[in-house]
This record gives sequence, C-alpha cells and structure tokens, in this order.
Amino acid sequence: MSKITYIEHNEKTHTVDVPNELTVMEGAVQNNIPGIDADCGGACACATCHVYVDKKWFDKIKKKDDAEQDMLDMAFEPNKFSRLSCQITVTDELDGLVVKMPLKQA
Ligand code: FES
Repeated sequence: MSKITYIEHNEKTHTVDVPNELTVMEGAVQNNIPGIDADCGGACACATCHVYVDKKWFDKIKKKDDAEQDMLDMAFEPNKFSRLSCQITVTDELDGLVVKMPLKQA
C-alpha cells in the first residue's frame, strides 16, 4: 500500500492509499479522482491517463517502453516528465508519489 497524491490541473489535490500491484491509473479510477479517464482500460492505447510525474519521483519509476512512448507522442502537451499512469505499477518504493494531470483531462 502506498500513498499517491494526484493533483488536478486546477491544483485540487487528492492523496489516497493505493494497494501495491495496482497501477497509478487504477488508483485514481477506484477513488473517483477526476482527470484520469483511462478510456482504453489500461491497454496503453488512448493516452487519457497521461500524467506529469513530480520530478523528484520521475527517475524512481520503471522506464517507459516504446509502446508507451508512441502513445505519449500523441498525448496533450507531453513534457519530459510525462508518463501514462496505466503503465506505472504501485510498489512500496513509490510510497509518496506525486503526479499531476494535464489541462486536457480536466
Ligand atoms: S488507460 Fe489508455 S493508455 Fe492508459
């Protein structure tokens, strides 16, 4: 179980406990946090789960694969801290993770 903080584009903050082995996307959906739509259900095929990972945490997350990068290339205003939250699995090492959602998903 890890505490994950999700920050909406309007700075509204939600900190919730997410069980290990769920994805960061699933943690948002199960807690009804707005800003992560996850239209494809986690299949790395929609980019509506795009988040900006807090820079302190970015290097602690397993590296993205080519499929994720391809989807991020089509996401709204990606930057160097962009990830698809459905591709980030929660582990004890991510306790305290902070992610922010882009305006398009507001
Ligand atoms: S939920 Fe569709 S790419 Fe993550």
